[in-house]
Amino acid sequence: VSGQTASAAAAIPAGGGILPRHVAIIMDGNGRWAKKRHLPRFAGHRAGVEAVRKVSRAARALGIEALTLYAFSSENWRRPESEVSDLMGLLRLFIRTDIDEMVRDNVRLRVIGDYRRFPADLITMIDNALARTANNDGPILVIALNYGAQAEIAAVARQLAVQAKDGTLDPATIDEAMIDRELQTNDLPPLDLMIRTSGEVRLSNFLLWQAAYAELLFVDTLWPDFDGEALAEAVSIFGQRQRRYGGL
Ligand code: FPP
Repeated sequence: VSGQTASAAAAIPAGGGILPRHVAIIMDGNGRWAKKRHLPRFAGHRAGVEAVRKVSRAARALGIEALTLYAFSSENWRRPESEVSDLMGLLRLFIRTDIDEMVRDNVRLRVIGDYRRFPADLITMIDNALARTANNDGPILVIALNYGAQAEIAAVARQLAVQAKDGTLDPATIDEAMIDRELQTNDLPPLDLMIRTSGEVRLSNFLLWQAAYAELLFVDTLWPDFDGEALAEAVSIFGQRQRRYGGL
């Protein structure tokens, strides 16, 4: 355990609060972080990968069961081609440099989103990485790649409509639990906490169904500055909130 993760764990008051089982993060502010330093946007994304590393290690140290990170949204294709290709390059680098640690630390790597639209070599790398951690049974690291929540829900609707048309599904039996089971997150713990960095207050098409009862936390910190201690603080804020799920 590095000093970073040890201090993240120590920042949680003894016996203080309930731990979220599943935390999702919209990692925002890489560009602004770079701009403040008169650096190219790429430098911000590169620093963002370092934050991914720190925060995923800290999540494990804290005992969070699943961490879902929004690395590439289905809308990110609208960015300049050079930036899209920079992000793909960083993803390659991340898999290459971090997969051994994940295998060793019993992390299960997962991907949500339609990453089949990515370059062929990257698809192969992702598939290999998923296969290498598939038999692990420790904390889950979910990377959202070419992910959009509305597209995810539309895919479920299409799938159920096909079954209804076939006559294998009675539309009257479609309920929330059935939709839950068809989503790509069906084997993850319920989403407890959604964090967005950089002061923007939007969900930007991330885990819209899953966030129904999640606590939302918007922090001003730019993503490259977010670290294990920031995660521990978010967890401690979560622990102080009262969740009523519509009850009293
Ligand atoms: C938002 O910053 C961030 C992204 C669009 C991508 C997040 C990607 C990474 C942290 C790196 C790759 C991830 C992995 C898992 C290897 P922005 O560019 O929108 O920032 P801005 O709003 O300040 O311009």
